[in-house]
Amino acid sequence: MSVLDAIGDTPLIRLTRITAGLAAEVHLKAEFLNPGGSVKDRAALAMVQAAEESGELLPGGVIVEGTSGNTGIGLAMIAAQRGYRALVVVPDKSSEEKIKTLRAYGAEVVITVGGVPREDPRHVSQVAARLAAETPGGWLAGQYDNPANPGAHLATTGPEIWRQTGRRITHFVAGIGTGGTISGAGAFLRKTGTVTIVGADPENSVYGGGDGSPYYVESIGHYVHPATDQDVWPQSYHPQVVDRIERVSDRESIEMTRRLAREEGILAGASTGTAVVAALRVAQGLHPGSLVVVLAPDSGRAYLSKYFDDGWLRRAGFPAPPAPGPLVGDVPATAPLLLAADATVRDLPARTGPDTVAILVLPRRGRPISDPAPGDVIGAVPLAATAGAAPDTPLTTFAQPPLPPVGINEPAIEALARTPPDTTRLAVLTDGRITGIVTRPSLTALTSNEPAS
Ligand SMILES: Cc1ncc(COP(=O)(O)O)c(C=O)c1O
Repeated sequence: MSVLDAIGDTPLIRLTRITAGLAAEVHLKAEFLNPGGSVKDRAALAMVQAAEESGELLPGGVIVEGTSGNTGIGLAMIAAQRGYRALVVVPDKSSEEKIKTLRAYGAEVVITVGGVPREDPRHVSQVAARLAAETPGGWLAGQYDNPANPGAHLATTGPEIWRQTGRRITHFVAGIGTGGTISGAGAFLRKTGTVTIVGADPENSVYGGGDGSPYYVESIGHYVHPATDQDVWPQSYHPQVVDRIERVSDRESIEMTRRLAREEGILAGASTGTAVVAALRVAQGLHPGSLVVVLAPDSGRAYLSKYFDDGWLRRAGFPAPPAPGPLVGDVPATAPLLLAADATVRDLPARTGPDTVAILVLPRRGRPISDPAPGDVIGAVPLAATAGAAPDTPLTTFAQPPLPPVGINEPAIEALARTPPDTTRLAVLTDGRITGIVTRPSLTALTSNEPAS
């Protein structure tokens, strides 16, 4: 048996505590038990096998993919076992842990800039395509559009669940990243005529009808960079397979991810939290005899310094166990003045205080600007700087770097210590969104018990 034979046939684990009071059974498909640590081992293996069979990947060839995530790890593992080179392109925002995991399997990692539109030649997918074309023996796995990705789940994940539940499954719930899992497993289960397929999607993701603005759960949903001309959905996602989508907030996903660890002993990633929130909503309306299967793509080990870290939660403004001392939220915040990035001096409200700072936010199609995430912000404009400027002057002319974000339930002393001392204003995050502005002197006064000057 090789390590690749250990891919698939993952257990189905019944959830017992977070499901208290529900008539339906809820079972979790533990995909984090695959040898590479995630559901993506299945797609990676199927894509490599298909390319070997078609002759696109030859002995001694080079497997190329653009991803910071689990597919890269699966491909790196397979490359190591089968004697290929692996070249993985990752955005510069990828965690050190993920890059180190890829290197541990012997993959070569190419780092490119993140947060650029898909059309940009520096975009991860563009760099990967170029490297695959330029490298002798190069083959691009291309999980977003490779039919072997949903094919893997049609051939394995779906049938396993059908068998493991003794054909009793009534509902299947999974997140949608490339769409491979839900499209493949969903297609198999739907064909039985008795299973409802439910997608679990971050609230802002466009799959479920969101506006594509940033969110905090990694690896699922579909984010759209504001400068994107034409949004393209992966060919691995077959929306017609999905009966309905449940939209889940970051806060709900993160809270559920933590509850799973503490109440069920299941340490999973945040996309599992999203899917379980959706599964519990589905189960709520069901009668005894119904059986919900929810898919858990990866382990929480990869996110210990994020969703499981109380400091991270507090810095992003998500609920966390209480911290000592006065908190950022203990000083009154002023409402942020939010303006579109293309606003001009003419767009400034008539009456503003001399100290007002406007926050310039990337526009979203058809969405009024509200509660932006730090990733939406391009800069801050002290209105004093605009005095006397011509009405059609773009506000970007006066833009300074974005105000440093601090969490509403972060200790004031920590917020002060980790933000540059020369920034007089800080953006307060609640559930990861900018909800107010506080001044540094007011925080300092709070920590020293002196009235603010
Ligand atoms: C952690 C995690 N969750 C969910 C998904 C989504 O799976 P799929 O791409 O099959 O839709 C992925 C895929 O990259 C993932 O890595």
